[in-house]
Amino acid sequence: MTLSSFTSKSSLMLGKLFSLSLVFSVLLSSLSLSPVASSANTLIIGEPSEELTIHRDLFGQFSEHIGEGIYGGIWVGKDSAIENVNGIRTDVVNALKALKIPVIRWPGGCFADQYHWREGIGPREDRVSRLNAWGNIIETNQFGSHEFMEFIRQIDSKAYINVNLGSATVKDATDWLEYLTAAAPTSLAKERAENGHPEPYKVKYIGFGNEAWGCGGAMTAGEYFSRLKRYSTFALNLNPEQQFSGIDLLFDRGASNPHAMIKVAAGANDLDTEFTEKMMQLWAQAPGYLPIFDALSLHHYTMSRGPMSDSASEFEHSEYLRFVAMAQEMDTILKAHSAIMDKYDPERSVGLVVDEWGNWLKPDLATNPAFLKQNNTLRDAITAGITLNIFARNAARVKMANIAQMVNVIQAMVLTQGEAMIVTPTYHLFKMYVPFQDAQLLPVDHKPGTINVGDKTIPTIDAMAARANDGSVWLALINIDSEHTLTVEPVLGTVAIKKAAGDVLTSAQVNDANSFKHPNRVNARQVSFAAKGSQPLKITLPPASVSVIQLSTKAIK
Ligand code: AHR
Repeated sequence: MTLSSFTSKSSLMLGKLFSLSLVFSVLLSSLSLSPVASSANTLIIGEPSEELTIHRDLFGQFSEHIGEGIYGGIWVGKDSAIENVNGIRTDVVNALKALKIPVIRWPGGCFADQYHWREGIGPREDRVSRLNAWGNIIETNQFGSHEFMEFIRQIDSKAYINVNLGSATVKDATDWLEYLTAAAPTSLAKERAENGHPEPYKVKYIGFGNEAWGCGGAMTAGEYFSRLKRYSTFALNLNPEQQFSGIDLLFDRGASNPHAMIKVAAGANDLDTEFTEKMMQLWAQAPGYLPIFDALSLHHYTMSRGPMSDSASEFEHSEYLRFVAMAQEMDTILKAHSAIMDKYDPERSVGLVVDEWGNWLKPDLATNPAFLKQNNTLRDAITAGITLNIFARNAARVKMANIAQMVNVIQAMVLTQGEAMIVTPTYHLFKMYVPFQDAQLLPVDHKPGTINVGDKTIPTIDAMAARANDGSVWLALINIDSEHTLTVEPVLGTVAIKKAAGDVLTSAQVNDANSFKHPNRVNARQVSFAAKGSQPLKITLPPASVSVIQLSTKAIK
């Protein structure tokens, strides 16, 4: 279908705009809508040729010891006037619980390669203080392994522990894993029990170092891989519920235990496919019975001239579109890395994990720029929706992703200021996307209009569909066009869609944000649609909006 897919009303509006864009063609040369024709914008939802699960871990989060990411944002201490359970603030826990966060990466980031786990256990008054390179502030180590595990217990999530490969030893990593996971009464397990947790913890993912090519030690892929081999071989998860049988260890690691820990190697940045190629070559040469990693990471932030140069909330409409176009580059990047991984691992046993992503903007809320505390607008929620849709479409290879970062840092879900807390537009987006966790991707065929952004062309609508475990069909529909309401007509085989309902996230301006004064300026609201008589159901999408809609084939009573 061509642009003819719009309804006649939006066609007229777009038609008018197109005429205007001709009149003002010089002014609008870098931003123009393509011509419009008249028929409805049909969205054909098909059946997949093979099952593709949108892994719940694609909706993961990242939490690093930066600024107020942990201290003040999550950890306030037991004696704080701010309501808390075991030192962890209750408002933040309650807000995050609603996102059903599947997994959290901690303690970094660059911080992971400076972190010494022993300094963060035992009586809090005896813990070691150090300088944290993020802002040169004192890291008191009040929030350590036990506090992190308590936090994920409270929000019902899972642990992705990133161990220090840059400035610690193989023994440090091995001991940390034994301390966390051993059930047998080893000295380390006894120490854990003395520190308040007799039961072994579970660690779902382990990451070895971070950004090995940069803050993790400025290594080549070859240098990193030779260090990684020893960490990966010896840092074992000893929790009986996560262990392999002896036979697995030798021949088929992990196959008999779906709860086995997944080992993540630090991977490339952006389009550095050479790093991925070298890592995969070395992975393929390693003995098959001892895979060095089960997943390879990738970091990609959306930003233009390096981190912290784009304004977080003061931007023009054209800047919004430029960010949307940049967010769509995630697809190109994933496909480039996946193609290389396919060469060495055609069976896709190694997952690609995007364990840092998001819009990295000017830290306009930060008291110290190194705290990376930035505003969060409707634009950020829209680009997050586009990115999650891209992850879903690439789910054959992409198995986990962790937005940077959950609280108070970069593209956060929640912002705190003393005892106050607000949720961001990106928070609402993640909450709306919960039904897609572990759903089956369904192919969508539609031909949206297009918008020219500089030398790029972006679609007016980004659509993703999935079938949830209960059989219901969900749509994520992003109207990128910030000036026009668009309409889609979903088609689900021969079944008539009678009703649809869900949530829409939008606001008057793309740079609208929530603030402590106006905490609900950008908020999701419920919407519903019903087919009129025998006509096809129409779903209207407000300008610059994200709608997550459940389709119903039940007749209206
Ligand atoms: O998320 C902030 C920083 O960005 C992380 O510490 C590092 O891994 C990346 O460069």
